[in-house]
Amino acid sequence: MGPGGSGAGMGSRARDPPILLDVIVYLDDVSALTADQLHGGFFEGWPAPPSAELHLAHLRGAEVAIVALDDATGEVVGFVTAIGDGVLAAFIPLLEVLPAYRGRGIGSDLVRHVLDRLRDRYSVDLVCDPDLVAFYERLGGVALAGVGWRNPAALRAHRLH
Ligand SMILES: CC(C)(COP(=O)(O)OP(=O)(O)OC[C@H]1O[C@@H](n2cnc3c(N)ncnc32)[C@H](O)[C@@H]1OP(=O)(O)O)[C@@H](O)C(=O)NCCC(=O)NCCS
Repeated sequence: MGPGGSGAGMGSRARDPPILLDVIVYLDDVSALTADQLHGGFFEGWPAPPSAELHLAHLRGAEVAIVALDDATGEVVGFVTAIGDGVLAAFIPLLEVLPAYRGRGIGSDLVRHVLDRLRDRYSVDLVCDPDLVAFYERLGGVALAGVGWRNPAALRAHRLH
């Protein structure tokens, strides 16, 4: 019995509410996904967050796209994408889990699922901030040096705004 148990003589405290965890469903076919399911607030901290329509175009254009859906709402709460040549090499450009759903393994599950889909590739690479290296090392990744170019104007100018 938990600390809020209601055994004999303990009538003054209510029973602890049950802990209800949302059921998360992972989909690797995004053809039926709609922009309405992508309005949760992705692209945290981006200078000009892409619209839900642009986000959907990214998912559909990726070689592999895996989304985590909250089964109760049908909303996408996390996603990962990979782009590649179909044979040797792939790159993971984006991984994100909505803040309210973080810290319960969804990000790790998304990485495991995308790596499984890419298991026949020689190289799978991504670029991340230094504080996230340990997260990826726990999933079997090896730290490498990275270089990137960013063009915020491309986010604003895109016709799928
Ligand atoms: C990184 C991210 C996808 C992890 O998703 P998640 O569902 O919380 O991941 P998990 O629950 O599987 O793992 C959580 C672990 O991630 C690590 N982590 C997440 N963000 C981190 C950060 N900014 N710095 C250091 N560690 C971080 C922590 O070790 C955490 O462990 P804890 O729960 O013991 O604290 C999520 O934090 C996110 O969307 N962040 C913003 C976007 C981003 O940084 N994406 C990665 C681009 S390379």
